[in-house]
Amino acid sequence: MKILAIESSCDETSIAIVEDGRNVISNVVYTQIDIHKLYGGVVPEIASRHHIEKITYVLDQALKESNLKIEDIDAVGVTAEPGLIGSLMVGINTAKTICMLYNKPLIKVNHIHGHIYANYLERDFVFPLLALVVSGGHTELVLMKDHLEFEILGETLDDAVGEAYDKVARVVEVGYPGGPILDKMASLGKPVYPLPHVKLSKDSYDFSFSGLKSAVINLHHKYQQRQEELNYNDLAASFQDAVVDVLCSKTVKAAQEFNVKQVIIAGGVAANKGLRARMQLEMDKLNIPLIVPQFKYCTDNAAMIGAAAYFQYLKNNNTSI
Ligand code: KG4
Ligand code: ZN
Repeated sequence: MKILAIESSCDETSIAIVEDGRNVISNVVYTQIDIHKLYGGVVPEIASRHHIEKITYVLDQALKESNLKIEDIDAVGVTAEPGLIGSLMVGINTAKTICMLYNKPLIKVNHIHGHIYANYLERDFVFPLLALVVSGGHTELVLMKDHLEFEILGETLDDAVGEAYDKVARVVEVGYPGGPILDKMASLGKPVYPLPHVKLSKDSYDFSFSGLKSAVINLHHKYQQRQEELNYNDLAASFQDAVVDVLCSKTVKAAQEFNVKQVIIAGGVAANKGLRARMQLEMDKLNIPLIVPQFKYCTDNAAMIGAAAYFQYLKNNNTSI
């Protein structure tokens, strides 16, 4: 079954054609990062305008690369929520137009489910599995007992992980988006600065990153006021060490408690090299297989939406014409 999938929830316009939820026939991503860099973050109104400008071009490219015509497609999947409303509407209206013109079923996909199913592009899921969802807007530990069954065990009480990376990077002025930049800096530094590893209560699967974010920013200000030199690679390494330690220790605890057969990492922060390395070590100790998406499927893309849409279609879930 071939699904044409559309993603436009934030600052990437992406269209993919995915067969049977796994075989990515084409996946075109147009990113607006260079545009939003000028403002230090995503500007919703500008994002929607660029989606409108690019979406037909991205559709053409995705079809060209696949050597398929819309007539060859069985259904259209589209990110319906959550996201920037103006941006989402561009993708949804494109999907609806195609479905009406070509009489295809429309499958509405939740963006976070898409991030989780980016892992299905790599390997079959074995249940129960535990998903650590870490993106710019979400930080959650999710237990899945079957396809498309999501039980949220815990989530962030304040900042999402990606958001904390981006905010820290903005204050210390290292660029946008902060995640990949701080990740690279961290690999060049040592975690020498003491920062809080906030784990909340022992039994909680919730997270909190705003205290850590503030601690990093305060340290930066303190050194600035004293006109002392702070080693920014070491600061990035200390910040990342705290983030990764908290994420991994809660994942380990949940993986043991729920006796899961697989652990997966989903969302933009799944690209973090420190997180991938430490989680692999922890899962090796527990002898639990870890799945991580390929780097290109960690941040927003339509291939992951195509994978999730396939399972929704099989379950006849959220489909209409
Ligand atoms: O999943 P995504 O593309 O968009 C959302 O759905 O939010 O995630 C984007 C987030 C940004 O906050 C970005 O800084 C973060 O993912 N990110 C990273 C890395 N690559 C992207 N964070 C830490 N390390 C990375 N290597
Ligand atoms: Zn995303």
